Amino acid sequence: MGEPLLTIKNVTKCFGETMVLEDIELEVRQGEVIVLVGPSGCGKSTLLRCINALEPIQGGEICLEGEAVDAKGKNLAALRQKIGMVFQSYELFPHLTVLENILLAPLKVQKRKKEEVRQEAMALLDRVGLSGKENSYPRQLSGGQKQRVAIVRALSMHPEILLFDEVTAALDPEMVREVLDVMLSLAAQGRTMIIVTHEMQFARAVADRILFLEKGKILEDTTPEEFFERPKTERVKQFLNMFAFHAVKSPKAAKEASGEI
Ligand SMILES: Nc1ncnc2c1ncn2[C@@H]1O[C@H](COP(=O)(O)OP(=O)(O)OP(=O)(O)O)[C@@H](O)[C@H]1O
Ligand SMILES: [Mg+2]
Repeated sequence: MGEPLLTIKNVTKCFGETMVLEDIELEVRQGEVIVLVGPSGCGKSTLLRCINALEPIQGGEICLEGEAVDAKGKNLAALRQKIGMVFQSYELFPHLTVLENILLAPLKVQKRKKEEVRQEAMALLDRVGLSGKENSYPRQLSGGQKQRVAIVRALSMHPEILLFDEVTAALDPEMVREVLDVMLSLAAQGRTMIIVTHEMQFARAVADRILFLEKGKILEDTTPEEFFERPKTERVKQFLNMFAFHAVKSPKAAKEASGEI
């Protein structure tokens, strides 16, 4: 195997005096799907935000294709284009149509040809079940549809790696499936992804590796089978029991019961 696509070495992140990521080590290879799980506040979102330099780090190094991702680096704009990020809250521009939202960055940032980008966007919309919605505004779409648009928008930049931060957490249960299905098909296409999710069945189905983060440290980094069948630490056993116990409840109820809300 060649060099990893993404290398995270000894990364430390502090907010003021508080250390929220400590000595994070991670290598992600081309086509690998990493699922990041752990209790609320353990640093999952912060780690994703450090990977695309939305947050500066205080120690260590993050490299994409051998180049340091550095908030002060002069190549940051170019590097960011290789990293697609999808958030829980969609972050679509409300005054732009679906198609305009998708075309914005490829045209303005990447200066690509409009017709080529448009055709590609239409094909991607079709793939996620949204053909015919290109001229709708975000407010005219369901949460699941908005999230699929956000995924297409990230894909339209041709990123090397996709980061997903709890993209189904704000959705009604019937819309969760349609978004997870899109992510499963991206994994099947060989996309490199890091996914933060509380959907444990999905995590098991999609992941090549599962990372469990606790208080800013990686406690386990293992295969889905090991993680779910033979967790090494008591902490992970406890975490998984909580999900088994709440499986009959809604994800929100489970989060509430675990003190995450
Ligand atoms: N901008 C900030 N300033 C100060 N502290 C922050 C900031 N962002 C996050 N934190 C703190 O960093 C820690 C990690 O937060 P983070 O959002 O990464 O957790 P998380 O694992 O994503 O949690 P959740 O599952 O609830 O989304 C928390 O203690 C949080 O309070
Ligand atoms: Mg988070």
